[in-house]
Amino acid sequence: MCGIVGYIGPENATQILIDGLRKLEYRGYDSAGVAILTGSEIQVARREGKLDRLADALKAEPLYGKLGIGHTRWATHGAPSDINAHPHSDCSGHFAVVHNGIIENYLPLRERLQANGHTFVSETDTEVVAHLIEEHYHGDLYAAVRAALCEVVGSYAIVAVCSDNPDTMVAARQHSPLILGHGDGEHFVASDVPAVLAHTRRVTYLKNGEIAAITRAGARVFNIQDGAEVATEETIVAWDAAAAEKGGYKHFMLKEINEQPTALAETLRGRFSDDRAGVRLPGFKLDAEGITRLNKVLIIACGTAYHAGFVGKYAIEKLARIPVEIDVASELRYRDPLIDDRTLAVVISQSGETADTLAGLREAKERGAHVLAVTNVVGSSVDREADSVLYTYAGPEIAVASTKAYTTQQMVMFLLALYLGEMRGTLPATERARYIAALQRLPEQMKTVVDIGPRVREFSRRFHGVHSMLYLGRGSNFPTALEGALKLKEISYIHAEGYAAGEMKHGPIALITPDCPTVALALPGGVYEKMLSNIKEVKARWGHVIAVGAEDDDELRKYADDVIPVPRTEELFSPVLAVVPLQLLAYYCADYLGLDVDQPRNLAKSVTVE
Ligand code: AGP
Repeated sequence: MCGIVGYIGPENATQILIDGLRKLEYRGYDSAGVAILTGSEIQVARREGKLDRLADALKAEPLYGKLGIGHTRWATHGAPSDINAHPHSDCSGHFAVVHNGIIENYLPLRERLQANGHTFVSETDTEVVAHLIEEHYHGDLYAAVRAALCEVVGSYAIVAVCSDNPDTMVAARQHSPLILGHGDGEHFVASDVPAVLAHTRRVTYLKNGEIAAITRAGARVFNIQDGAEVATEETIVAWDAAAAEKGGYKHFMLKEINEQPTALAETLRGRFSDDRAGVRLPGFKLDAEGITRLNKVLIIACGTAYHAGFVGKYAIEKLARIPVEIDVASELRYRDPLIDDRTLAVVISQSGETADTLAGLREAKERGAHVLAVTNVVGSSVDREADSVLYTYAGPEIAVASTKAYTTQQMVMFLLALYLGEMRGTLPATERARYIAALQRLPEQMKTVVDIGPRVREFSRRFHGVHSMLYLGRGSNFPTALEGALKLKEISYIHAEGYAAGEMKHGPIALITPDCPTVALALPGGVYEKMLSNIKEVKARWGHVIAVGAEDDDELRKYADDVIPVPRTEELFSPVLAVVPLQLLAYYCADYLGLDVDQPRNLAKSVTVE
């Protein structure tokens, strides 16, 4: 959580930092601040609330300087307030620090520093770092920051500046993401690539335990613990600046929903053999013998990524005939799981930085599993720490509510299921060809699904005032029900429950009233008839049913009050298309309610704390 930016170069830093923070607001948005070196002193501006409040304050009282750092916050220690907003300073005001992460030993450090005469003004863990730097400073900012961080336990991405060092910015990371961006005579530091894309596509991904001393001439990177200089590698990122803009849409979420046809096509690109008869996944490094030896697949993820994994479970079990366990990452780490060298652990994370998912990855690796990451972010922690990686290629996802990342994660899981089926000999060539053909049709079919936006908007107009909604699905669309409910909750704040439709009679049926609409996923396949029965049960209790079903399904229209049509595909793949009306329903409900769709309350895009 939290987004950080730093700039050193010939331009005025303030606007560059504000623009960069705007691209990072998805990481946290309860307060924001900048520290700018103006002449020989550091001036700090901080505001509780959205970034616009800080931007307005800086318009009223501008700060000019060519070196600066900025921060957008998601509170962990200390409530959102001007005082707790970053950057934080030492007693003298010579140093300013921005931080993303948690300093676990901040209390003993704070007590020691207070005993030494330091005065603290905020409730944050971060402030100890500023005071520690002050203690260790003897004219060399890099040395002071390094010495300070050697005392710190926890996770951090940090950038520090000092009024005595107008040509230096020091950045370091331990378990929180940080990149360096390189321009011509100017350098940037940021939590994520979109913050620097307007200026450069040349980036260096800092690794855990690394610290960078950055001047206008360039950056040198060292190991925090032993101070040894380390070689770095510059990457040219494929995303362009336009990919991180709204492109005429009212919200990023709507843009990202509409990007799904292209995103799905990108996910599939280059992943079939030349004759299109098989799937090719060069990023998956487990050899044929290793795949045959597997006795279990364990999927680890959080939130929407967990739902994508859940959809993947159905596909892998059906096509590769191997047991699949799936765990919410925050539960896995505390349950002493049965994992060994015959386990394939599939770790799914859009950001690649989710703290619980990373902990699950490490746990699985330690116990001998081959860890395969499914992520959207090249160079993320999950990417770097896994044994193998399959990218989703969804492009940057900015809205907190995940949409295109979800459907592309599902596509990767289908590719994986087909690949495992092929390698394990459980999927005859004719069936494989049928599934591959169906998979290749999905991007085109997705175009017709996103086009139903105006129709779904009408449902949202009618239903955005309700207090609760029920989402029912069975089989591989049970996860779609969970995801639909999650989407509605997180952005419209309407209470919603996702249920396996067969479970309805065991409790949730009591919720059904004319004021609690039910969204029923009734796609063609093995559980279709069962879903019709469940719909009838809801209707018998005067419930209102909005069904998602096949476009040519006249039977369904007899029972449901409303039907949202999606194209026919293989039952296993139907969750990719079926979820889109639910994304749109949530989006338009939130928009009708006048809510902040892209930045819902209490949330952040990347949950980098446990
Ligand atoms: C979904 O809309 C949420 N924003 C959230 O559940 C998200 O999917 C979860 O936090 C996992 O994030 P990750 O994919 O970046 O690990």
